[in-house]
Amino acid sequence: MKALSWHWAAVCVVALAINGCSGPAGDGKKAGDGKPDKATQIGADTKSKPPDKQPQPPEKPTQPEPPSVPEKPETPPQPKPQDKPQPPEAQLPKDPKEPSPPTQPTDKVGERMTKQLYGKMPDGTVVEQYTLSNATGVKVRIITYGGIITAVETPDRNGKLANITLYRDSLEDYLAGHPYFGCIVGRYANRIAKGRFVIDGVEYKLATNNGPNHLHGGIKGFDKYVWQASPIEGDGYSGLVLKHESPDGDEGYPGKLSVTVTYTLNDQNELKIEYQATTDKPTHVNLTNHAYWNLAGAGAGDILGHVLMLNADRFLPVDDTLIPLGEPRSVKDTPMDFTMPQPIGSRIDQVEGGYDHCYILRRSPEEKLALAARVVEPKSGRTMEIRTTKPAIQFYTGNFLDGSITAAGGNISYEKHYGFCLETEYYPDSPNRPEYPSTLLKPGETYHHITIHKFGVEN
Ligand code: BGC
Repeated sequence: MKALSWHWAAVCVVALAINGCSGPAGDGKKAGDGKPDKATQIGADTKSKPPDKQPQPPEKPTQPEPPSVPEKPETPPQPKPQDKPQPPEAQLPKDPKEPSPPTQPTDKVGERMTKQLYGKMPDGTVVEQYTLSNATGVKVRIITYGGIITAVETPDRNGKLANITLYRDSLEDYLAGHPYFGCIVGRYANRIAKGRFVIDGVEYKLATNNGPNHLHGGIKGFDKYVWQASPIEGDGYSGLVLKHESPDGDEGYPGKLSVTVTYTLNDQNELKIEYQATTDKPTHVNLTNHAYWNLAGAGAGDILGHVLMLNADRFLPVDDTLIPLGEPRSVKDTPMDFTMPQPIGSRIDQVEGGYDHCYILRRSPEEKLALAARVVEPKSGRTMEIRTTKPAIQFYTGNFLDGSITAAGGNISYEKHYGFCLETEYYPDSPNRPEYPSTLLKPGETYHHITIHKFGVEN
């Protein structure tokens, strides 16, 4: 159970952070060679069966990744906690339950990590839940189905813990359907117009699962597979390496894509998500995590009172199928402007349907992990800051939540605006927009990106 090469791995990762984590936009998504590091894995693989008609494949472990913070972000403008709408304590469910209560025996797989059986797929494939803990009492739970983050438990300003990410109660509930709660999204997060693109003169037709468009990887995206998991642990952090192989032609995409997503939690309350992918044919890749947040606690009313700063002065206006109209537009003097902290709900009525837009992140040329967003929930004092190597972020205010998805044994119904998403990604429809940063990945290159969520409190 002991980590062997932590020091070596840490050096390696710092080097990665300094040289790497870049993306197609001409800044080199070829960081590193994509080969797995040695050591740093603990426990055994999550063994699962190969895919058949229903969800899920599996395979082998990889790479560690200490939770480094390679660059200092600019100090974001300070939010005004008194700024208003309130996360209604009154709307908290009477007996908010933990997601997936530990009815199954829990195995210790490291100093700060446990796992338990979460459920079984219809074909019998085992799904496990891993719980990462840190020295400050923060916990992150991840299941191997879809790489879904089922819980992020953080203290409020009085030390009271709550799960601040929207969740369902069980594997059965996740299989019954949910709007991408907490999952890994791929091959392509967001929309590709009419579900088609052309590479080297060949047209590829993708599954269309959102009106005329392709959304979040298609009918059976990465969120619907059981990933192969390997726990990792080192000084001041623990994590989970998830691997998945998407075959040539999957949902219409060319090339066999090998994907590794690594979650780590450190003692600085940083949840780091590292994405890597390689292909054997030119293809398009745009991976993200689709967590819905409510810093007052999942189910604790709407998120309109959260105060948001987005480090973006341009966004992409969209048509009525949510495909970008063209060039980014300035947010100045519009309800889209979050460059100064604003309650999410203060101008949402002026945005048809609510926020569901891609914002182009500001970053200086030498800045790889740029500050993307800062959110404060005034009542609990909880904060979340996001930094990323990716060029954009989709801000979505849970406009399509309608109360039909429930949790906590029915005590929670996720109504409209009960959660918001901040999905770090490339622009929607990039494969058809040569003027946008390119999402094309070629053989020999490694798609490599990092997003860090840092949780805190303020008074
Ligand atoms: C999209 C929304 C969509 C939601 C759930 C978000 O990433 O921007 O339009 O409804 O995911 O699918």
